[in-house]
Amino acid sequence: MEANMPKRKEPGKSLRIKVISMGNAEVGKSCIIKRYCEKRFVSKYLATIGIDYGVTKVQVRDREIKVNIFDMAGHPFFYEVRNEFYKDTQGVILVYDVGQKDSFDALDAWLAEMKQDLGPHGNMENIVFAVCANKIDCTKHRCVDESEGRLWAESKGFLYFETSAQTGEGINEMFQTFYVSIVDLCENGGKRPMTNSSASFTKEQADTIRRIRNSKDSWDMLGVKPGASREEVNKAYRKLAVLLHPDKCVAPGSEDAFKAVVNARTALLKNIK
Ligand code: GTP
Ligand code: MG
Repeated sequence: MEANMPKRKEPGKSLRIKVISMGNAEVGKSCIIKRYCEKRFVSKYLATIGIDYGVTKVQVRDREIKVNIFDMAGHPFFYEVRNEFYKDTQGVILVYDVGQKDSFDALDAWLAEMKQDLGPHGNMENIVFAVCANKIDCTKHRCVDESEGRLWAESKGFLYFETSAQTGEGINEMFQTFYVSIVDLCENGGKRPMTNSSASFTKEQADTIRRIRNSKDSWDMLGVKPGASREEVNKAYRKLAVLLHPDKCVAPGSEDAFKAVVNARTALLKNIK
């Protein structure tokens, strides 16, 4: 049996699972859990010291699920406390603040911390990850848009939700889907079910959308050297158009990336004799 599979897995019987929260300090991990478990929101920031632990019961289909929630502190200071709690986990709530780009960029480092602490025999493939793009109520400060977050999550086979612990938007839906996915995983012998979207676009498409998003000018966007010829621009354009055409590519953000490539080509061709 896999190390992090829960002990009891007969259908219809109760099941014990362990879930943890992960993400930078102040992104809203504790508030998301509080909103779901206590139906309330606290606007004052009370940093989690080390770990908060809670138990809750939920019903998924005919099974009663006993959930042990370990709400982790995001501050680097608590690394030594956190690292004891990664093992034997079935589900991770991975949170970032849509108004704090740093917290989004830190998601890979959080996965790396967990992987390192699980050690060489730890398996991240049989853990359900629910990515929460939190604080969507703060629309004015938003700097990580939905397609960027969704692309990151879905290209890793993770669930993705837009949430606000303040208004409650997306919170129940997130937990319900999260728990159902964990039960499915337990009943599926510990294999994470592939989401439709993660199976339907390639790593090349996801990487290309990210590259286009971060490109500094039209040359860079098409992947050609400044001063390239019409033929070179057209060749690069055709390659990207085939890869990203909305009829062919369902990766989040592909439509915007496709439009940006069309505009970049038009702008460059105008100035090439
Ligand atoms: P650590 O325990 O330090 O790792 O932080 P945390 O990720 O648990 O953050 P916490 O839930 O304590 O929330 C941090 C701050 O963000 C608090 O002031 C919350 O009131 C606020 N907050 C949390 N979620 C939301 C949200 O969805 N919208 C808004 N506007 N504020 C939120
Ligand atoms: Mg907290």
